[in-house]
Amino acid sequence: MSRTPLFAGNWKMHKNVKETLEFLEDFLPLAKDIPSEIEIAIFPPFTSLYAAFEKLKGSGIKLGAQNMHWEDKGAFTGEISPPMLKEIPCDYVIIGHSERRQYFAETDDTVNKKVKSAVKYGIVPIICVGESLEQREKGETLSVVLSQVEKAIWEVQIEDGGKLIFAYEPIWAIGTGKVALPSDAQEVIGAIRGKLSQIYGSISQDVRILYGGSVKPDNIKDLMAQPDIDGALVGGASLEAKAFYQIATYNRG
Ligand code: PGA
Repeated sequence: MSRTPLFAGNWKMHKNVKETLEFLEDFLPLAKDIPSEIEIAIFPPFTSLYAAFEKLKGSGIKLGAQNMHWEDKGAFTGEISPPMLKEIPCDYVIIGHSERRQYFAETDDTVNKKVKSAVKYGIVPIICVGESLEQREKGETLSVVLSQVEKAIWEVQIEDGGKLIFAYEPIWAIGTGKVALPSDAQEVIGAIRGKLSQIYGSISQDVRILYGGSVKPDNIKDLMAQPDIDGALVGGASLEAKAFYQIATYNRG
């Protein structure tokens, strides 16, 4: 069993087409130096996906979207369907980011519908879970997170653990500069793997579980030293080519 480390750059609502191409002008030469056993993926806004795809050709860097609808077409003004993402093509899609749960009424039920749809269309979902500060202080972290995990993959059948990715992102750590203690992140991520193994048996060993929340070049190494942390979902620091490169090459020097 071996899980390829993944560093995923979630750009959120940043970078238009021009800025996306400028980022890649800076990042692609640096990325040539990232060992092939490390996987990199970027998640630009929908409007930049195709330009990013064209620019990434031959680079080995993967591409993903930040959200999608679960239906393949229909009267859903403002939404993007799985086949539209497949056409670009996107390898990954982020599902259930806490900002979508908080500001756009994403629920465990819609997350589950989207995960089922992503799996059906062969787009690997990166399913985000995580507790609020209040929940952590009340000692509810594991119950909240494991319930989100269970509901996200309710009746989701996979034959290969590589078809699912989770990101544990404590809400209080996102964009705040307050990274989780590596041991605390390991405790939750280890528990997620335990839950996955109850549901999926041995293939759960191949499911990658990322940490997200204020990941920076100076804290990634200690996080990656934890046995169950397989990479990071990086927000702010992925907007800057050099910082994202430094995160991906955390094990140097
Ligand atoms: P951050 O965001 O790295 O800026 O904290 C992480 C995320 O929201 O995925």
